[in-house]
Amino acid sequence: MIFYLSFLLLCLPAFGEVTIYTQLPLLGATPTTSALPTDTAAAAFDNTSLVPPPIPSPPIPTQFPIQLFSGGMQGLSIPQSGAFVGFSVELSVANQVFGNNGTQINPPILNLLANIKARAGHSVVRVGGNTQEKAVFFPEGLGGGESILKTSDDASDPTDTPTIDVGVDLIYAMANISALVNTQWYIGVPFNDTSNPRLEIAESGEQILGDFLLGLQLANEPDLYGDHGLRPSNYSPANFVTDYGVMIQAFQSDSSVQNKSKLVGPSICCNWSPEQVFDAGFLTDYTSELAYLSVEQYADTRCPDGNGNVKQSQVALPEYLNHNLSVSLVQPYLNTSAIAQENGKPFIMMETNTASCGGFPGLSDSFAAALWGLDWALQLAYANFSGAMMHLGGQDDYYNPFTPPPGSLARKAQWTVGPMYYVSLIIAEAFGPSNASRVVDLFQNSNNDFTPGYAIYENGNPMRVALFNFVSDPSGASNYTADISIGGTGAGQPNASPSQVSVRYFSAPSVTSKTGFQWAGQNFGDVLESDGTLQGTQQTITIDCDTSANTCSIPVPAPGFALVFLTSQALQESSPNPAAQTTFSTTFTSGAPLRNTATINPSVLATSNGYGGLNQQIGSTSFGSSGAVSVFVLPAFVLLCGAIGSVFVNMGLLQ
Ligand SMILES: *[C@@H]1O[C@H](CO)[C@@H](O)[C@H](O)[C@H]1NC(C)=O
Ligand SMILES: *[C@@H]1O[C@H](CO)[C@@H](O)[C@H](O)[C@H]1NC(C)=O
Ligand SMILES: *[C@@H]1O[C@H](CO)[C@@H](O)[C@H](O)[C@H]1NC(C)=O
Ligand SMILES: *[C@@H]1O[C@H](CO)[C@@H](O)[C@H](O)[C@H]1NC(C)=O
Ligand SMILES: *[C@@H]1O[C@H](CO)[C@@H](O)[C@H](O)[C@H]1NC(C)=O
Repeated sequence: MIFYLSFLLLCLPAFGEVTIYTQLPLLGATPTTSALPTDTAAAAFDNTSLVPPPIPSPPIPTQFPIQLFSGGMQGLSIPQSGAFVGFSVELSVANQVFGNNGTQINPPILNLLANIKARAGHSVVRVGGNTQEKAVFFPEGLGGGESILKTSDDASDPTDTPTIDVGVDLIYAMANISALVNTQWYIGVPFNDTSNPRLEIAESGEQILGDFLLGLQLANEPDLYGDHGLRPSNYSPANFVTDYGVMIQAFQSDSSVQNKSKLVGPSICCNWSPEQVFDAGFLTDYTSELAYLSVEQYADTRCPDGNGNVKQSQVALPEYLNHNLSVSLVQPYLNTSAIAQENGKPFIMMETNTASCGGFPGLSDSFAAALWGLDWALQLAYANFSGAMMHLGGQDDYYNPFTPPPGSLARKAQWTVGPMYYVSLIIAEAFGPSNASRVVDLFQNSNNDFTPGYAIYENGNPMRVALFNFVSDPSGASNYTADISIGGTGAGQPNASPSQVSVRYFSAPSVTSKTGFQWAGQNFGDVLESDGTLQGTQQTITIDCDTSANTCSIPVPAPGFALVFLTSQALQESSPNPAAQTTFSTTFTSGAPLRNTATINPSVLATSNGYGGLNQQIGSTSFGSSGAVSVFVLPAFVLLCGAIGSVFVNMGLLQ
């Protein structure tokens, strides 16, 4: 369904309060592409497009063997869950994503999370980020039908992080999401003021979410507190460990928090290594309070350098189309992942995405980003992380896994599903619902950086293989064929190759494509087209193996990704029965056969997602990106000056 035909219109000054006029879609109107400079467009809907990198020279070898072994392989990861790739939702925009309260949940988020549940059994979402630090929680609610209000900007904070008020209704919305689609949560707890600890969000989170609350993330990127003016500029790991202890004391003496052992830390990102924090006593002092260890890591940054220069997307693009990026990003964490295992703590990548400071236009929202995200997720799993949360920061960001429509469109438009959502969905199928999937990087094709691959074992048996082709070559000359064998003479084992395998492909016309993604023949439509359900018919391809050579030859297009199911059990586990999946529509109301039913009225889209509402201006949470958006436009749409409709909405500009 195409709802966007005639929405926006504007000819607006880049300041002050404006009136935006909207109207019902005009049938037959054709969207045209605006020629507006990209930096005047809201990042989440930006139409920048890049040029694919050149075909590698020397060219990739286009046929190579993959030898798998019955009974396991060297280097298998710890067992992983299909919910490995979760979502990190910036606290300040959480109500726009989830809905304002327990009875006003946005149907698309339910569908998006239900898709993951159908494959993995559950989903995991973190609510927090920079905006958790100064958040003030109101257990009695905020009134006025809102659950988050931005109260002020602190001019001294270089991230332009708003101070926000959060009402308990947000937690009710989360609880009802859990009841409907089995979502588990990490919640961020403010750390900005240790002398007046604010634990109310932890108290309500525990009371309302119960077992759906996985952990409480205390402190976010503390290694940037000095730079960001939240602490003295020489703030050290030792200072942090001391502060953490003060907050733990506050938890200990808070009788409204029952479980004192759900903390997540240190969530450092940038200036400190985990070892520095551990060597300052973090893990030894707080081992009984810590449920998870965590770090945050973006692949690159679009923050300005010391001279105010920003890396260009076209320059960054080839880095993402190379296995080396994920391998080198994970390397500094291998010691920590071993320490985490020794201490029995799952190790979580609590916030990640393509690039900090909002991501790269044309890259973070492209097929290249999706391919990189899959490689990164598999590499993190191989390196014994236990989860990776893809960040969603709001409309100033290019990398959102999904983006609700902006306020003026909310009543009619649908959501935009981005590359990182496909990553979560595909990893859910790659790991399945068993919690027993163990991942190994195959370093295949002589460890060619353009053609990585991974095997996924369950209970000693190879179940699935993930194959990448990072090359964009429309001629077909860079398509490759991987010849998979299980056991056999190459392995010094009896042959165990199957007689046929099943394959699902993830494809797009080019690595720089921003639309036209296909996962097994299905997708979520283009910008503002998704209600969170997969569209189209699922296509699973059967490939007969060569039973005399004992190989299964899998073609992988350039560019592309293939998920090979080596057994019928593997395929079945990763193939949810569509009939068994609840779909949430805008006409969904209470009375459906669900426990803790969320009532979702058709009017929900009319009242939610108010990016532009005067009382809820959303500041950026990424340094450098706030202010880039001076006028909110959707460049893919018809832009007209003046009023073409009768409904008008007061809308504050992002500033
Ligand atoms: C669902 O939301 C409603 C309204 O906020 C709330 O009263 C109810 O407790 C919520 N249900 C659950 C399971 O949290
Ligand atoms: C939930 O929020 C909507 C608008 O966002 C409001 O109309 C409704 O009254 C709220 N419900 C409750 C129980 O607060
Ligand atoms: C791993 O971390 C521990 C704890 O900080 C440290 O003592 C050790 O030297 C590190 N090992 C390596 C190989 O970096
Ligand atoms: C992951 O953990 C397993 C089990 O402890 C170990 O054998 C493997 O070497 C680890 N992988 C990496 C990359 O450190
Ligand atoms: C997998 O783990 C999740 C989360 O811990 C749990 O709820 C689920 O029951 C587990 N599934 C299986 C098959 O063990």
